[in-house]
Amino acid sequence: MPIVSAEKFVKAARENGYAVGGFNTNNLEWTQAILRAAEAKQAPVLIQTSMGAGKYMGGYKTARAIVENLVESMNITVPVAIHLDHGHYDDALECIEVGYTSVMFDGSHLPIDENLELARKVVDLAHAKGVSVEAEVGTIGGEEDGIIGDGELAPIEDAVAMVETGIDFLAAGIGNIHGPYPENWKGLHLDHLEKLVEAVPGFPIVLHGGSGIPDDQIQAAIKLGVAKVNVNTECQIAFAKATRAFAAEYEANEADYDAKKLFDPRKFLAPGVKAIQEAVEERIDVFGSANKA
Ligand code: 13P
Repeated sequence: MPIVSAEKFVKAARENGYAVGGFNTNNLEWTQAILRAAEAKQAPVLIQTSMGAGKYMGGYKTARAIVENLVESMNITVPVAIHLDHGHYDDALECIEVGYTSVMFDGSHLPIDENLELARKVVDLAHAKGVSVEAEVGTIGGEEDGIIGDGELAPIEDAVAMVETGIDFLAAGIGNIHGPYPENWKGLHLDHLEKLVEAVPGFPIVLHGGSGIPDDQIQAAIKLGVAKVNVNTECQIAFAKATRAFAAEYEANEADYDAKKLFDPRKFLAPGVKAIQEAVEERIDVFGSANKA
């Protein structure tokens, strides 16, 4: 199946009470791991690049080509979207131009009127090409300058105005933050999510900062209206942990491993890549999107 817009399958998730995963990728192997997991679980999936990951992968055109070509060469049968995560306006336009099937325009740092105006423009350009659009109101926090705060709560009136721009799914803060959660984190504000959902009934909400939120809170959020959960840090940690363990094992058995040529990057990276696949499969089960392709 060719890469597709995420509009239909995120909407289907919202209508049927589960969430699809938006998994960030960083390279070829990462993308393969996510695709293997999605296929094994028969789950629709968004593979997303941050602006930084897009650059790291050689530009958006290359990132799109990697996803598109792997979907074909790996005979992937589940719906897969290639999505821009937290894109500036120009980046969203570039991704639409080079064939991303879904984009997030993040104007949350701008005054709300400007955020809405640019979102409208992105929607017009994206929808003309069948590309789905995510936008954000309020700001989803995280570690910035060493300060980790409680996540912001998105203003309800801003959420309503953003939905009216014609976007397909909405990122809105409910106390969630990117990266690892601090010990004193107060948890998701499900009461705020409830108010949001009441204001934009039936509309798919995106939960950012999906790594490290207790499963019961994620599932409660999905029950209320979250239809896409973003996961990045969790896969990075899984990869780093497995790679570090393998490196330590290598160190302890150097002569033997050298003789087996385990320094070959295809072998050296394999445990880390497998760990990403396992992490993605496990998340898909928690989000309820297994067998929803
Ligand atoms: P985490 O890194 O906390 O999983 O957040 C990912 C995310 O929300 C990407 O937009």
